Amino acid sequence: MNRKLMLLLIAAVLTGAVFAAEKRSGEITGAHAEAELGCTDCHATDKPVKNAPQSSCIECHGDRSDETPMVLKEKNGLEFTVSPHNSHAGQIRCTLCHKLHGKSILYCNEACHHEFILTVP
Ligand code: HEC
Ligand code: HEC
Ligand code: HEC
Repeated sequence: MNRKLMLLLIAAVLTGAVFAAEKRSGEITGAHAEAELGCTDCHATDKPVKNAPQSSCIECHGDRSDETPMVLKEKNGLEFTVSPHNSHAGQIRCTLCHKLHGKSILYCNEACHHEFILTVP
């Protein structure tokens, strides 16, 4: 194998290792970090290896399904009166929108091609 290819390979393996380590460190973002939540609060263990169960979210926050709908505007000017927590999609997983270890996304825009102008905390 030539030298250049070898160096490239080593670089790729190292980058992979760094990303994996970052993911495993489980850094918490936003309000949960400010509230100083620990791993155990969501994962029920201080050495998590897999995703936290949805029941932990609901213990602290409820399922929010009785929330008053809000007016959501789409980029094209259309308006929908709906709650992201109680839509026609029913009760969907919290983590489809709220990313506890990263930047949240609006699942409605990803999955159904809406273009709602709304930020997910
Ligand atoms: C506020 C709740 C919450 C806290 C606190 C929390 N986690 Fe998580 N964690 C989650 C959720 C939810 C997932 C599922 C992935 C996602 O949607 O972000 C997850 C996923 C993970 C995963 C699996 C990631 C993967 O796919 O490889 C690991 C590992 C992890 N967390 C580690 C930690 C560690 C370590 C801590 C403490 C420093 C921690 N978490 C604190 C909610 C939490
Ligand atoms: C141990 C209790 C606890 C658990 C478990 C928990 N949270 Fe929280 N969460 C809090 C606290 C405290 C705050 C900050 C104060 C507030 O907004 O009520 C918060 C804030 C939030 C916010 C507002 C974020 C912001 O930046 O304004 C969202 C969204 C949220 N949590 C979603 C979740 C989801 C989804 C889960 C499950 C993976 C979860 N939480 C698990 C206690 C918890
Ligand atoms: C379809 C996407 C979506 C899903 C799924 C979702 N949320 Fe949210 N959530 C949002 C959006 C958008 C907001 C911000 C609403 C606003 O701006 O008033 C929010 C806000 C919140 C807040 C902060 C509210 C506040 O008063 O600051 C909490 C806590 C929360 N969600 C918890 C949950 C829990 C628990 C679940 C699962 C049972 C869940 N969410 C599922 C989109 C979602």
